[in-house]
Amino acid sequence: MARATLPWRIGHGFDLHRLEPLAPAGDGRPLIIGGIRIEHDLGPVGHSDGDALLHAVTDAILGALGEPDIGELFPDTSPKWKGADSGIFLQEAVSRMDSAGYELGNLDATIILQKPKIAPHKDAIRTHLAQQLGIEAARVNLKGKTHEKLDALGAGRGIAVHALALLVKKGILEHDR
Ligand code: CDP
Ligand code: ZN
Repeated sequence: MARATLPWRIGHGFDLHRLEPLAPAGDGRPLIIGGIRIEHDLGPVGHSDGDALLHAVTDAILGALGEPDIGELFPDTSPKWKGADSGIFLQEAVSRMDSAGYELGNLDATIILQKPKIAPHKDAIRTHLAQQLGIEAARVNLKGKTHEKLDALGAGRGIAVHALALLVKKGILEHDR
């Protein structure tokens, strides 16, 4: 379907990964959030590196564009993406956004993680994510949230991320002129 040429396009992304003990005890990969390694005794199970923040952000951008989602572009059945750096997925979304004539206005994400606390790592993740997106850190916002010990997420057995991205048609923002 043709994409309507709107001045703004909003997109939502959600991702969830099970957290399990790290290898060799379990199948958990090192915990990486937004490309930043965080020390924890559990890590995500996933085909790629399991970076739930990058996956949610990638899907938010793809969703805003009306493009196929991350799993359609990078099937988890393909050996090519086994253990892949999720930055590759994000770069594809950014490149599609650029080709479509949009730039990222701002991004807001909520990371649901019982533990560890995101707060001490927030600046590092934010700076790194903004770099990957090619925008200033002021346009990226992150929030950490526990799951109030409820359900599997609350038992610390998973990480979930919601992300919203607002894309702006190039030429509209002050700095474009
Ligand atoms: O206080 P409230 O019930 O709204 O939230 P919470 O889930 O108990 O988390 C309290 C605060 O801790 C959050 O607002 C975040 O600033 C921080 N937090 C964090 O840094 N990392 C987490 N994994 C969870 C929460
Ligand atoms: Zn994921």
